[in-house]
Amino acid sequence: MNPERTGAWKALGRLATDLIAHPLENLLAEPERFKRFSFGGAGLLLDLSRQRMTSEVLSQLIALAAERQLPEQREALFEGARLNTTERRSVLHTALRAPPAERPPLAAVVETVNQRTATVVDAVRSGHWRGYSNRAITDVVHIGIGGSHLGPELAVDALNISSHATPRIHFVANIDGLNLHRVLRNCDPERTLFIIASKSFSTLETRVNATSAQHWFLERVNDRAAIARHFVAVSSNVAAATAFGIAPENVFELWDWVGGRFSLWSAVGLPVALAIGNDGFSRMLAGAHEMDVHFRHAPAEANLPLLLALTGIWNSNFLGIGNHAVLAYSERLRLLPDYLQQLEMESNGKRVHMDGTSAAIHTAPILWGGRGSNGQHAFHQLLHQGTRSFSADFIISASEPQSFPDHQEWLLANALAQGQAMLLGHRDSDPHRDVPGAHGTTTVVLPDISPFSLGALLALYEHKVFCQGVIWDINSFDQWGVELGKRLAVPIHQQLGGQSTLGQDASTRGLISRLRSKPEQTTTG
Ligand code: F6P
Repeated sequence: MNPERTGAWKALGRLATDLIAHPLENLLAEPERFKRFSFGGAGLLLDLSRQRMTSEVLSQLIALAAERQLPEQREALFEGARLNTTERRSVLHTALRAPPAERPPLAAVVETVNQRTATVVDAVRSGHWRGYSNRAITDVVHIGIGGSHLGPELAVDALNISSHATPRIHFVANIDGLNLHRVLRNCDPERTLFIIASKSFSTLETRVNATSAQHWFLERVNDRAAIARHFVAVSSNVAAATAFGIAPENVFELWDWVGGRFSLWSAVGLPVALAIGNDGFSRMLAGAHEMDVHFRHAPAEANLPLLLALTGIWNSNFLGIGNHAVLAYSERLRLLPDYLQQLEMESNGKRVHMDGTSAAIHTAPILWGGRGSNGQHAFHQLLHQGTRSFSADFIISASEPQSFPDHQEWLLANALAQGQAMLLGHRDSDPHRDVPGAHGTTTVVLPDISPFSLGALLALYEHKVFCQGVIWDINSFDQWGVELGKRLAVPIHQQLGGQSTLGQDASTRGLISRLRSKPEQTTTG
């Protein structure tokens, strides 16, 4: 059923018309505002008190979720129904982080792979894993893109702050060879372990980077047998990984019931475990699982992922806000906007309902963002005085060990002040100095940036995406739009190499011809 046909959708439309003219500061004047609009779960705090939101709006949003059968769909998700209808797949990433007793049909397969990856992690970290020349591993190069890259890089960047010696973890995603070059120029082939992570094992960028990495390695080592000590893979396409030359015992399986952008919790998270150890990785899974339990059982009025999703729908579909900023006030979470960009835009950037009919409503907004406080001296000017509307999530951590003690409070003060400025603005008789405010924002407070809290945070957003997909009646778990560009690149690649461009449009022909006559390239190798 199209969401706009529900009674709640219509009621929300009426409430929005009333509320849009309502000064936001009046809402904030309610003494119980923070208490009424902030919620806790899995150690996180979700504060919606700075949103253009009333109790009546919230009740109608919750009614909308009920009319869209959110509770039933949520149960279907956890029970493994094939919610990804276009690919006829279950969506069971939650099973990857559930204790074995809670995932009976999948326990054995997941446990087997977990034990194998845990053994590799211990061996590499302890120095027992030896390269072909019997030297311990000092560098791990993870090659993957999209869901096989963004989560692991975010988690490693956020959590790997230990001063103990662990292998250095590098990430290569871009097909621009400079990415690989910059990583490899600091690696010693005798002491480097490559992880090729690709669910499909057919993604162009990963294939090209993996092939070049293998050439780089063989040029220096000149012994194919050495590959077994230096290359491992994570994939659901085990045959393709072994055909590529990875020893079968070094291929860690992924399953079709784990979507790429939800795969951090599987063996795709291997670099995270290599960076922080098996215990740390388990704590990240535990944090995500705690959010799963909260999402599955907390009542709608106190359910963090649902409330976050409903707030997004309110802003986007009823207040007409088409873009959403993720403002991570933490150096350790600087990669969060990139990660959420894929999670939200690849999942919910859809224009047809589940039955294939066109959606007459907006779905996911454009998501972008950056790290605070840097953004304040870059794009916040537009947020404060530009003409565009936006919504934003501030992500902050209540406690964060700082090498320099004063910094944490300044960081937090800036985050709170920015939200306040966005909300209340500043009246000034000089129009150049006037700041209109009236922009609602959400604040998510983590107790700390531990593996547990990060797991809970990422699961919060995963479930937000799921709830929004259910309410918009779209398939959050496929990504057919990505395929077109991949297909079009193949003939253009051949035409750049000299094949006839007949059949191409005039513009593409012109660009190909310009690029064919490019000046001689300098090598980076
Ligand atoms: O960009 C499309 C996509 O299919 C993503 O959904 C996925 O995370 C990424 O490419 C990488 O895919 P794979 O893990 O199969 O290499």
